Amino acid sequence: MASKQMLFLLVASAAMVAVVRSQCKVDFVFIVDGSGSICGNQPNECDNWRSIKQFLRSVVSKMSVGPNGSKVAMVTFGSIGNLIWDLDTYSDSNSLQNAIDQVKYLNEKTNTSHALDLVRTRVFGGKGDRAGVPNVAILITDGLPSNKTNPFVDGRGLARSAAQRLKDSGVDLITVGVTSQIDAQLLKDLSSPPQ
Ligand SMILES: *[C@@H]1O[C@H](CO)[C@@H](O)[C@H](O)[C@H]1NC(C)=O
Ligand SMILES: *[C@@H]1O[C@H](CO)[C@@H](O)[C@H](O)[C@H]1NC(C)=O
Ligand SMILES: *[C@@H]1O[C@H](CO)[C@@H](O)[C@H](O)[C@H]1NC(C)=O
Repeated sequence: MASKQMLFLLVASAAMVAVVRSQCKVDFVFIVDGSGSICGNQPNECDNWRSIKQFLRSVVSKMSVGPNGSKVAMVTFGSIGNLIWDLDTYSDSNSLQNAIDQVKYLNEKTNTSHALDLVRTRVFGGKGDRAGVPNVAILITDGLPSNKTNPFVDGRGLARSAAQRLKDSGVDLITVGVTSQIDAQLLKDLSSPPQ
């Protein structure tokens, strides 16, 4: 299988770095797509997965992480969303970057809507979420939500409505596309304006 090219959407990444730099006190969550399509359905982690983790470590290195600075929670998703750590787990940049290094690729389906709902109900409003501090979710995905559970249900439609619920709850949602299969229109639809 041809190795897939990693294509970060530069506009989205630039917007994200701007948010990270401009605000020193934010409750962030990374929502990372660990589905099979990220690694061409190979069972083991691939260069794309390592690049995603490298990218997240570099984003964290630009934040001021701490009890009085920014905090970062981690959610991965495949067949369902998984809360890996919450906003209270890490309070310094080094332990956060080490933890990012250990995050496991899943090689499952792409249940984007479940991950977005998990963020809304368990991360924000959950342990360590600070009142009065902006909530920002950064979604890293190849943008192809599964609809295999029920062929009559459109996975993209589910992702769109879950993204809307998250934004309606006051969370800024930034999407970053990876791999050459990205659905750029869907990623725009999911993001908070300006896109
Ligand atoms: C955080 O801010 C509080 C209140 O301003 C201060 O008392 C505390 O020492 C600060 N903690 C750190 C780790 O900077
Ligand atoms: C996503 O996960 C939820 C909760 O387990 C499940 O109800 C739903 O069918 C899943 N959707 C897909 C597309 O797998
Ligand atoms: C299922 O997903 C595929 C690919 O994303 C899409 O082309 C198709 O229209 C979807 N099916 C339904 C019934 O929504």
